[in-house]
Amino acid sequence: MKFSNTLIYWYLQNNRDLPWRKSKNPYFIWLSEIMLQQTRVAQGLAYYLKFTTTFPTVFDLAKADESTVLKMWQGLGYYSRARNLHFSAKQISNELNGIFPSTYEEIIKLKGIGDYTASAISSICFNEPTAVVDGNVYRVLSRYFGLNTPTNSTSGIKEFKTLAQTLIDISQPGTYNQALMDFGALHCKPQNPLCETCPFSDSCVAFEKKLTKELPVKEKKIKVRKRYFNFLVIKTEIIKQF
Ligand code: ADE
Repeated sequence: MKFSNTLIYWYLQNNRDLPWRKSKNPYFIWLSEIMLQQTRVAQGLAYYLKFTTTFPTVFDLAKADESTVLKMWQGLGYYSRARNLHFSAKQISNELNGIFPSTYEEIIKLKGIGDYTASAISSICFNEPTAVVDGNVYRVLSRYFGLNTPTNSTSGIKEFKTLAQTLIDISQPGTYNQALMDFGALHCKPQNPLCETCPFSDSCVAFEKKLTKELPVKEKKIKVRKRYFNFLVIKTEIIKQF
């Protein structure tokens, strides 16, 4: 069976019942995707519910004081996400009549939105076949295809994006993207992946070659640290006496 068909078949039986999945409203999907960056679903869930209750539309978010938005974000960390969210909400509300842009090209122009979020929103809300690549996707694809290109290298980022793009189900890109993320989070886990019950076990390179623990590969970045030293120079003079 085709990779995407196997994946979506798995997803239909195992997907997580998450509140934002009941909607295709780009405002809700945007909120959820920003909140889930660097945050686990279990933690982000309460914040999502609180935010959508307090700010049910992009106009409500735009009207709020930044201090209120930041207070509601307290505990999620990475506060620039909240500041950018608020900035873009004001832009959508004031300059775009509250209408969220509907293509990847337009969505990525918003402050705080990168390739990952633009791909997620455009595929989930507007059926655009743009592949999402996050940590879960790197793990699943590197293991399934046996790829050891470092996922945090320039060539790795390109290689995995291109690969994910060739695998996407163009008739249901949003479902495919979310299936791949859920599969990585629930089945092809970083530790103790469920290989024995995996629908891909007969074609997964890492499983066949016992490389699951070795993949994905991440390049160790050498941290350049500025260090300042004080030196004491001890001078001695030799006085020659005649
Ligand atoms: N992590 C972040 N966004 C997600 C989504 N839409 N589905 C599954 N996992 C995610």
